[in-house]
Amino acid sequence: MAKVTIQQLKEMKKKGEKISMVTAYDYSQAVLVEKAGIEVILVGDSLSMTMLGFPGTVNLTTDEMIHHIRPVVKGAPTPMIVGDMVFGSYNESLSQAIGSANRLMKEGGCDALKLEGGCPEIVEAIVKAGIPVQGHIGLTPQTASMLGGFKVQGKSLDAAKKLIDDAKAIEQAGAFSIVVECVPEELGRAVSQAVSIPIIGIGAGRYCDGQVLVFHDMLGLFDKFLPKFVKQYAQIGPEIIQALADYKKEVKDGAFPEEKHTFGGLNAEDLKGLY
Ligand code: KIV
Repeated sequence: MAKVTIQQLKEMKKKGEKISMVTAYDYSQAVLVEKAGIEVILVGDSLSMTMLGFPGTVNLTTDEMIHHIRPVVKGAPTPMIVGDMVFGSYNESLSQAIGSANRLMKEGGCDALKLEGGCPEIVEAIVKAGIPVQGHIGLTPQTASMLGGFKVQGKSLDAAKKLIDDAKAIEQAGAFSIVVECVPEELGRAVSQAVSIPIIGIGAGRYCDGQVLVFHDMLGLFDKFLPKFVKQYAQIGPEIIQALADYKKEVKDGAFPEEKHTFGGLNAEDLKGLY
């Protein structure tokens, strides 16, 4: 299959064909996403919680992000792979932002980058450096404490206008798409109509141009909390726990391994002479 391109995603929006996007953080997950035919993989900084056990996304470093992008690139040749710019890697200066972006592209090998916030000047600088950028507005987890926690954003008309203006400015700055997180459904629709680039929603309702979910949330692999906007398509976590418990029991009672799991070739009597 040919690699998914930015042009393809824009065409999909034009035709009203929805875009599917999901996070993945390692080789085995990427292989599964590739096989499912999903168009875009986000190596999201949510890996800080789902893979590394931190309470939030702020701790994650660019080195850690690169470490996770590389196996995803190997496992999924077809989807577009978007790497997340981590907190603190693009808020000091434009040259810091471009430096961090260059590292993710060169050392990680992804196709595009995502960055949080209504910051068109940073988007523009990175796009001008030749790197495709996806914006991320609404609830931005890296700065959730500034937004009063993990809450629905854009609920007043003023806040909705600011979000739409941010989306327009990010499009103007050259972004190829924008993730909009946790806003009222009608605001998700309005943002999608206000710009010509694809709006990928997460908790932004049914009328966005595509949807993104976190791998662990949608598959039942993360039990710390579950946002209202997540649909769980499987409950893999409990199945894994049951399989591990069955294994433990069979090791203890000798039911595993069976003869079919063993290697022949020597007999016990011959070996007795050796000890
Ligand atoms: O890091 C992430 O998983 C994200 C999604 C929530 C869009 O940014």
